[in-house]
Amino acid sequence: MRRRIVAGNWKMHGSVAENTTLVDKLLQGFPADAGADCYVCPPFVYLRGVARQLDGSAIRVGAQDASAEIQGAYTGEVAAGMLADVGCSAVIVGHSERRTLHHDSDQLVARKFMAVQAAGLTPILCVGEQLGQRESKQTEQVVGRQLDAVLDLVGVAALGKAILAYEPVWAIGTGRTATPQQAEDVHHFIRKRIAALDGKIAGLVPVLYGGSVKAANAGELFAMPNVDGGLIGGASLNAEEFLAILQAART
Ligand code: 13P
Repeated sequence: MRRRIVAGNWKMHGSVAENTTLVDKLLQGFPADAGADCYVCPPFVYLRGVARQLDGSAIRVGAQDASAEIQGAYTGEVAAGMLADVGCSAVIVGHSERRTLHHDSDQLVARKFMAVQAAGLTPILCVGEQLGQRESKQTEQVVGRQLDAVLDLVGVAALGKAILAYEPVWAIGTGRTATPQQAEDVHHFIRKRIAALDGKIAGLVPVLYGGSVKAANAGELFAMPNVDGGLIGGASLNAEEFLAILQAART
């Protein structure tokens, strides 16, 4: 059985005061036997504070991005080793907002993936198509290309220590969720593509779904055989909602 995972991507939201309250509520409501691994991914500046507050709990901390470089004159960048230093255990790479708004190419995402693993952290690699690409039936081509860029650089074995997330861009922050079958179809495609290289790794790597996941739709999405949990945006800012999604991920 693959691990179930629920990760909250806070994006560029929060403040010291708001995060403290949110994390307090998560800690209060967090079940002793969650049945799924849980991550929260605050903005860079809050990572250390949130990691300290979560110290000793089962909730892990992830970052939303990392530099592809190890260190040096890269003003504004944050190295994966620094993220490990402040208590992160995972890093999102290739989020669609990075790919579209910040022009992270498939190759740059692959290098970030490699840098994250080199720092001993778990990459959460996001892939997903835009609406026009889905409508012109290019979903598999786009997702396959995004995946291949990473496989080409790091090799399939590296996916044994990674988390994947399928996030259709048209479903992010729009309230328009992929149907469970739409999600399952792409998750199955991803697993098949990895299985062509290594069946064991394909069976092990968790593939999360992200895009307008809420407590109300999480159960039906997580019930699909190839959906191993969720990468949650907006709903992860509300403790009750996020804990209810975590509850839905119980096997
Ligand atoms: P929403 O859940 O707000 O649609 O965001 C999904 C996402 O981008 C998580 O990384």
